[in-house]
Amino acid sequence: MKRLLVIHGPNLNLLGKREPQIYGKLTLEEINKKIERTAKEEGVSVEVFQSNYEGELVTKIQEAMGVFDAIVINPGAYTHTSVAIRDAIVAVGIPAVEIHLSNIYKREDFRTKSMLKDVVIGQIAGFGVDSYLLGIRAAVGILKRDE
Ligand code: DQA
Repeated sequence: MKRLLVIHGPNLNLLGKREPQIYGKLTLEEINKKIERTAKEEGVSVEVFQSNYEGELVTKIQEAMGVFDAIVINPGAYTHTSVAIRDAIVAVGIPAVEIHLSNIYKREDFRTKSMLKDVVIGQIAGFGVDSYLLGIRAAVGILKRDE
């Protein structure tokens, strides 16, 4: 069975309470349940990880080497700033899908820049919780393609 790692970056632990008009009303726990259900449907195992700390996110990506086959990542605000997360994804060489709840391209200018954009397989943004679920399906598609 292929193994998927889903990573939530900073402030995503506040989902449900945080700007629900932008990020939706579902809590992270509710989103994680949907993630688990979709992974089950797709026949892959999934681990979910959230951190507000850049270094912890980097360490988790490093530790994914040899353990996970694909990564689905919402790096939160680190999307726009983190060379370290970008470098970690390149270093481990695990195919990654970048996802965002909101459409980062129709918000503030600073959000239109992604440090990961050219090191991930692709991006999914703007579909709320479905961005995660589409991201999982996209990651599984990549793994099947590579079989
Ligand atoms: C986000 C978009 C980022 O700009 C923001 O900092 C987040 C969430 C999203 O999922 O839409 O924390 O990644």
